[in-house]
Amino acid sequence: MIDVRPYEPDDLPALWALAHLPDAGVTEDPTVPVPLRERRVPPTGPADLVDPAATVLGAGGDLFVAVQDGHVVGVGGLRPVRGRPRLGRLVRIRVHPAVRRRGVGRSLMVALEGAARHHGFTDLLLDVGDHQPEALGFYRALEWSETWREDSPEWHWQTVWFHRSLERDHLPVEVRPCSGEAEVAAAEHALPTGGRADHLARWQRQQAGEATYLLAWDRDQVVGHILLESASVFPDVRASVGAHPEVHLLNVADRVRRRGVGTALVGAAAGVAQEKGAALVGLALLADDDAALTIVQRLGWAFRPGLTPVDEVRRRDHRGAEHVAQEECTYWTLDLAGRRRS
Ligand SMILES: CC(C)(COP(=O)(O)OP(=O)(O)OC[C@H]1O[C@@H](n2cnc3c(N)ncnc32)[C@H](O)[C@@H]1OP(=O)(O)O)[C@@H](O)C(=O)NCCC(=O)NCCS
Repeated sequence: MIDVRPYEPDDLPALWALAHLPDAGVTEDPTVPVPLRERRVPPTGPADLVDPAATVLGAGGDLFVAVQDGHVVGVGGLRPVRGRPRLGRLVRIRVHPAVRRRGVGRSLMVALEGAARHHGFTDLLLDVGDHQPEALGFYRALEWSETWREDSPEWHWQTVWFHRSLERDHLPVEVRPCSGEAEVAAAEHALPTGGRADHLARWQRQQAGEATYLLAWDRDQVVGHILLESASVFPDVRASVGAHPEVHLLNVADRVRRRGVGTALVGAAAGVAQEKGAALVGLALLADDDAALTIVQRLGWAFRPGLTPVDEVRRRDHRGAEHVAQEECTYWTLDLAGRRRS
């Protein structure tokens, strides 16, 4: 019988024992005794497990342990993300190697998601190394969206970031850069541009190194896209904020709106901007774009008063005829410092 409860200070030696076990590669091992030899010395890392009271709890988060017959067999934490009041980050999810694939991880996730709702979070993030196949299988099975990948010269692995929305009928998607003309055709099929070669032009700009064209996939169907320009396209923004990357063309297929895909795309674009070394990412919003406004506010983007770039907008009238107009936008930026893997 597995019980998931909040962490208590007496659990620390058992958590340190769990943290000493390997977590890369395939580490499921039914021969490891369930009562682990408790450790009186902390693991060499990570900080969240060396001193969870100071890190996870001290940051205003929650830590849960899974207990079987009086023995700690799992742990998982939730931390607020600085400057992003609606966003939570899951950390240090681990299950004892001998009790894997029995639903312990799933029970910890239920407790963590409940705590996240209690905090008023709308979205959760987590990261995992691609050398941790068990964790990748786990988050995919739990229908998290895979949003972007991060490299670092110090790592021999790639970090994979996952996203899950809590409020809606979450649709798990995989967001990745467009990889060729077959994907351009899939994008045109799902989100037609009326005979114009818009998807192709975006892919070609990516090929030229001027932009990254991200597509969101629901299995083999494209359900949304976003374009990350390498530098702001607005001269007045460049003059006052600098040549940071900028998000454009966020679009989600009508049939899957309000299911977290737009949030996954915006999060992924910000991740790609950070991966390219940017300290800031920007976005111009039309006055009536309520959906994008909700997303950027949830993800902690800041309104930049005094910046009113003018964007070109295409709208269709009731007869289906297209009109191009110049419209004034508000401007928003996201500070990317401090978002790296911990
Ligand atoms: C990832 C981890 C926490 C999963 O814990 P768990 O208790 O085994 O997970 P559950 O039994 O609740 O699994 C739920 C579902 O996830 C999927 N899953 C879990 N482990 C998997 C694996 N090794 N391969 C593929 N899918 C897996 C399965 O669909 C599983 O359901 P099923 O067993 O009915 O098929 C555990 O493997 C672990 O501690 N790994 C090492 C530490 C780690 O990588 N932590 C994550 C770092 S963020």
